[in-house]
Amino acid sequence: MDITQLSNQVHQTLNALRYGENPAELYEPIRYIMSLGGKRIRPLLVLLAAKMYNEDVENALLPAAGVEVFHNFTLMHDDIMDKAPLRRGQQTVHEKWNANTAILSGDVMLVRAYELFLGVAPDKLGKVLTLFSKTAAEVCEGQQLDMNFELREQVSKEEYIQMITLKTAVLLGFALELGAILQGAPDTDAESLKLFGDNVGIAFQLRDDLLDVYGDKDKFGKQVGGDILSDKKTYLMLTALEQANPEQLQIIIGWRDKTDLGIAEDKVRAITAVYDQLNIRQQTEQQIDLYFQQALQYLDAVQVPDERKATIRSLALQLMERDS
Ligand code: IPE
Ligand code: IPE
Ligand code: MG
Ligand code: MG
Ligand code: MG
Repeated sequence: MDITQLSNQVHQTLNALRYGENPAELYEPIRYIMSLGGKRIRPLLVLLAAKMYNEDVENALLPAAGVEVFHNFTLMHDDIMDKAPLRRGQQTVHEKWNANTAILSGDVMLVRAYELFLGVAPDKLGKVLTLFSKTAAEVCEGQQLDMNFELREQVSKEEYIQMITLKTAVLLGFALELGAILQGAPDTDAESLKLFGDNVGIAFQLRDDLLDVYGDKDKFGKQVGGDILSDKKTYLMLTALEQANPEQLQIIIGWRDKTDLGIAEDKVRAITAVYDQLNIRQQTEQQIDLYFQQALQYLDAVQVPDERKATIRSLALQLMERDS
């Protein structure tokens, strides 16, 4: 299976999308965020899953684009919530324009995402829209939990995994399930692919948490240390809280609620030093590998010949090792 060809199809489809013209203030931010690129992995996952069942993936192109437009909508709103200055190496929409613009352009992106599903074959449309709606609501639930957790002192690892499953993983799961459903794959395969995607998605968010501390700003394209600054209960933070000695705990607690930019550098440096002392990076990497191994078990359960799973497997592995 040729990933470059599928990737080209994703790019061509996205480039051909038209969101609207007037008022320009509403549509320009959409063209802006969509033009900043990104890895485009969700539409690629849709097509890879589709291709496992049918060489011709034409019918999956617009739904795949719908998933990517939805993802970019969540990023536009997420950046407001996270007060993020940078996205894909460029100014975020709410910084370049303002928060109200990012809210409204995001809203219309959600509408456009739905429209991109409307061409799905009538016998599958109901199922696809039901699953998409469920997934989209789950993403919002995860995002709310993420914000709730910023203000809480105690969050368990279980709660954290539930939160990232909702905010991030289910969309990857849905992307794979969608590709399978569109090509009439057996329900059991669609379900296995979804579970594969959910587990890859958990590992993907763990990696994102890791890169937020240890990434290279130029490659990662986002502000490094943003999660520390805003007291996110990431896997790194929860592990540190579990393992910190009294002195380290005092450092962590002492920086809590201090979120203004003036102290950003000192806070990020201090908390990162504690992470370093506790080997949090290595521990997070181990956890990523655990979820990846779990994911592979679900991929094994998919009833197609192994050679048709090879590309998806290697893409998932690349995602585990990504630095952008
Ligand atoms: C960012 O997603 C949001 C998370 C779920 C971590 P990606 O890392 O897929 O972002 P892009 O689309 O490649 O920029
Ligand atoms: C984002 O999680 C998940 C969604 C956008 C739904 P993050 O807040 O960690 O994503 P980034 O790091 O800003 O891309
Ligand atoms: Mg966020
Ligand atoms: Mg964010
Ligand atoms: Mg992040």
